[in-house]
Amino acid sequence: MTRYSRITGTGSYLPPRRVTNADLASELAARGIETSDQWIVERTGIRARHFAGPDVTTSDLAVQAARHAIEAAGIAAGDIDLIILATSTPDMVFPSAACIVQNKLGIAGCAAFDVQAVCSGFVYALVIADSMIKTGAASKALVIGAEVFSRILDFNDRTTCVLFGDGAGAVVLEASDTPGILSSDLHADGKHVGILCVPGTVSGGQVLGDPLLKMDGQAVFKLAVGVLEDAARAALAKAGKTAADIDWLVPHQANIRIMQSTAKRLKLPMNKVVVTVDEHGNTSAASIPLALDAAVRSGKVKHGETLMLEGVGGGFTWGAVLLDF
Ligand code: ACO
Repeated sequence: MTRYSRITGTGSYLPPRRVTNADLASELAARGIETSDQWIVERTGIRARHFAGPDVTTSDLAVQAARHAIEAAGIAAGDIDLIILATSTPDMVFPSAACIVQNKLGIAGCAAFDVQAVCSGFVYALVIADSMIKTGAASKALVIGAEVFSRILDFNDRTTCVLFGDGAGAVVLEASDTPGILSSDLHADGKHVGILCVPGTVSGGQVLGDPLLKMDGQAVFKLAVGVLEDAARAALAKAGKTAADIDWLVPHQANIRIMQSTAKRLKLPMNKVVVTVDEHGNTSAASIPLALDAAVRSGKVKHGETLMLEGVGGGFTWGAVLLDF
């Protein structure tokens, strides 16, 4: 019998501090930097984001999302035999945030590691978990995307600091006789490292270089729209499906205009696109599982529906996963 993987539970967590565009505009004004709710909404679709408190780490957010996903799947934390955590803002240089989450869940023994693919991280992590389940290396995987991007934002750069937020989303992916994940398509092109990066590094006990996020927004925008269409079409072709078979597109929540352009290229109406960027901002690796969990808990996404999950981000990395929910 063919072995497939299937999402059996979703969960998410947002830190309680909700910062509206107006809140952020007045914080930036105190630094002599001008922005407005109108500019941010028109260019990005973002109205608010959540920021974690200064002592809160990625693993703190991740473990809350994980607990919700485990509860939704109706399993116990001790049943988990694989943890993959996608993040670009881990608690420490090492060990991985996944190991810290494992300990916070009160379990031990199962494989646990982080995946670094920036905003594509969750899609990468899901594909790895799917592959490990299909080979029999795991049966009940916890796949998490979690970030505290507020830590790496330059609040003197209005072109980037208004775009991002903190949060976590998670799914339980279990072995199943029926699919589940139908197909996937992952890519990277390292020649674009410079258009979206945090160039600093730790060396000799000091931070060398700039440890804050740098982005060429227009270059990212142009690349993102093209590769998201290509990845979606490739995943559909591998599964012998067309865009008409998609019930819900769950894209990386970077910018409403990127989502609208992708939907238009795939000829999908916007009422088939899950949008949470307005309330979450761009939470990088957390954005897709956060959007998925919000859509599941609000009753939008139902069991049996076909979902296209799509990520794109620094690296440049991008990818898509087509699945029956
Ligand atoms: N408030 C007010 N004005 C601003 C702000 C701000 N926060 N930021 C920039 N501006 C100004 C600029 O200074 C510029 O002024 P000027 O014309 O006097 O020089 C003007 O607005 C236009 O700036 P542009 O950079 O041309 O604005 P653009 O329409 O390209 O929008 C944005 C910028 C929103 C970043 C856009 O390029 C974008 O969405 N890019 C995609 C990047 C993205 O979403 N990245 C997320 C991370 S990557 C990922 O997740 C895939």
